Amino acid sequence: PRSLPAVSPPRRAAASSQSASPPQASAGDGAAPRPPPTEVPVPASYLEANEHHLGSLAEYETLYNQSVADPDAFWSTIAREFYWEKPWPADAPAVSWNFDPTAGPVYAHWWKGGRTNICYNALDVHVAAGRGDNVAFFFEPNGDDDDGRRRSVTYAELLADVCRTANALTAAGIRAGDGVVTYMPMGVQLPTVMLAAARIGAVHSVVFGGFSPAALAARLAAAGAAVIVTTDGVGRGAKWVPLKAAADEAIALAAAEYGHTVTTQLVVRGGGGGEADVPMVTGRDVWWDDALAGAADTAPVVWVDAEDPLFCLFTSGSTGAPKGVVHTVGGYMVGAATTFKFSFNYMPGDVYFCTADCGWITGHTYVTYGPLLNGATQVIFEGIPTYPDAGRLWAIVARYRVNILYTAPTALRSLKRAGDAYVTAHDTSSLKVLGTVGEPINPEAWDWYYSVVGDASATVVDSYWQTETGAHVIVPLPVAGLSLKPGCAQLPHLGIVPALLDDNGNVVEGEGEGNLVIARPWPSALRTLMGDHGRMESTYFSRFPGYYMTGDGARRDADGHLWLTGRIDDVLNVSGHRMGTAEVESAIVGVPSVAEAAVVGIPHEVTGEALYAFVVLMPGVEGNDGLRAAITAELRARIGPIARVETLHWVGGRGLPKTRSGKILRRLLRLIATGGGEGDLGDVSTLADPSVLDELLGRPVA
Ligand code: WT7
Repeated sequence: PRSLPAVSPPRRAAASSQSASPPQASAGDGAAPRPPPTEVPVPASYLEANEHHLGSLAEYETLYNQSVADPDAFWSTIAREFYWEKPWPADAPAVSWNFDPTAGPVYAHWWKGGRTNICYNALDVHVAAGRGDNVAFFFEPNGDDDDGRRRSVTYAELLADVCRTANALTAAGIRAGDGVVTYMPMGVQLPTVMLAAARIGAVHSVVFGGFSPAALAARLAAAGAAVIVTTDGVGRGAKWVPLKAAADEAIALAAAEYGHTVTTQLVVRGGGGGEADVPMVTGRDVWWDDALAGAADTAPVVWVDAEDPLFCLFTSGSTGAPKGVVHTVGGYMVGAATTFKFSFNYMPGDVYFCTADCGWITGHTYVTYGPLLNGATQVIFEGIPTYPDAGRLWAIVARYRVNILYTAPTALRSLKRAGDAYVTAHDTSSLKVLGTVGEPINPEAWDWYYSVVGDASATVVDSYWQTETGAHVIVPLPVAGLSLKPGCAQLPHLGIVPALLDDNGNVVEGEGEGNLVIARPWPSALRTLMGDHGRMESTYFSRFPGYYMTGDGARRDADGHLWLTGRIDDVLNVSGHRMGTAEVESAIVGVPSVAEAAVVGIPHEVTGEALYAFVVLMPGVEGNDGLRAAITAELRARIGPIARVETLHWVGGRGLPKTRSGKILRRLLRLIATGGGEGDLGDVSTLADPSVLDELLGRPVA
């Protein structure tokens, strides 16, 4: 047996004898930092204190083997726990699929021919079963309730609000299959609109409120949405963000640049706190309250096919335009509900809190759908973790006695920097599961989450998944007998068959590293990219026919556990958000006097990765602060504030390092950006003009 490193005893278990030995050296007290542990068993205190869906690693293995041996039977048993207006055909397999584009179109269908509705399963079912008075949402406003907007919403109230909204959408002309775009802050109204759209069979496309008007315009057009729901504005931290004004600009841009018409804009007044005086366009803009006034609080359910689209969510790829990832109703419903229950060991009565915005997939699967399908009670947070101070999340945990917390490594790193006192000032002893998502979690942040936030008595669930996978695919499930490894996502989720392939497509068995792919369909897999099935096939299935390619690299260790090693394509991950280098580069070259740009990621203490841009200027132009500001402004305008360049590198007249065929050698740029020197450059023989390197490295140019 391997010897485990010493970990701190829990604060609460040893409360009486605790005063002499604080659980962890806090920042700045002069003590040498303890190195993060390499393995920590799922804490016995967690296992003893909580009921379990899966008691042990052996139980997980049994269930996993069933899920892989007979996926049809395994998933259909789970699917039958939901309400189906019409069952899927008994004589057809539950799943049919093809992952090999050389053999025919790629597809995966689950329970096709069955008719259901995800909104009905998330709300009506609970109300009908007498759970209508259970709280669905505890709403926490941006500030610490200085404006008195804190409130709770029960399942019965939420159902009524969703029905009124569904009726308003119907009145605005929306029918099954139509697109509805939202551009709203995080709050109760956003999932309400999503559920209302789902209730009438419409296809929602949530656009994150931090995206710029230009980014919103492209998504409005790509989603083909005639209706948009927005908010006058929202307070985020100390700032007021004028969302309606941005949406107006986007609607105009959508018309001018894509010939796309938005007929109706529903505007939530005071949706984000504070009243903004926004101009309304007659005939197009309608106040939310007016649209809902008189709307009935019951609404018929539109039963849809399991394979009808539920939503389209845009995400970044390695090239050009954002990809509209399409998920369908039946498989997504089963995947979202099942992973929520097993990954977080969710038990009735638990209070759950996910800090993600519904603008990202995490807010779809693990705010709107997974928790509600399980009848869970959750906290919905409008604000940011550092406002009014870095104790905000822990104050919320204490207020609601949160049992399951789900957040991102970038948030943890910034809160860790603020110091342990912000955590220990609050009672976080209710926490049992600590989830993270968005990027590999570095062991230091993991250790802080585990030891300081969780006080060594909660288990950490480092969930690896993607917009495309719809739900968790690799996670350290909270089971007895599992040793958690900080930074390791570890186990395939139920029904997931991961594989590692080398660059030639050969399967890497045993210990080793390779391209992470998934060999079989799973219920919540993406079905297509909006309007471009060919792009879906070429992006995910062409390089390794027969497999879904994640775009991530991974390593399998001696225990068979999977470690994610980062993207293998030109996609960056800044604060857990995906950004294609191509999108960033095309924004930068949009600035007059910029000739060319190449962007790479560099490690960053808080955001994980940060943007490092190599910029080539037109002949005779010199880099200066004015140009830097113009680039920053262009990135904000085209993408949004998250596209912030950390380092700008003005490249001289010899330009970027390219091969003879004109391909930029990003490997060299990454080395230079991370401070690599002479000795690290490796083989540079493919460079068309080797003197380019001298210039980039600041050496005398031959
Ligand atoms: C990409 C997906 C999934 C919801 C949030 C992001 C990276 C995500 C992890 C993790 C290592 C992770 C991958 C993935 N990623 N979670 N736990 N460990 N990497 O969704 O925007 O679709 O991004 O985020 O690179 O491909 P997304």
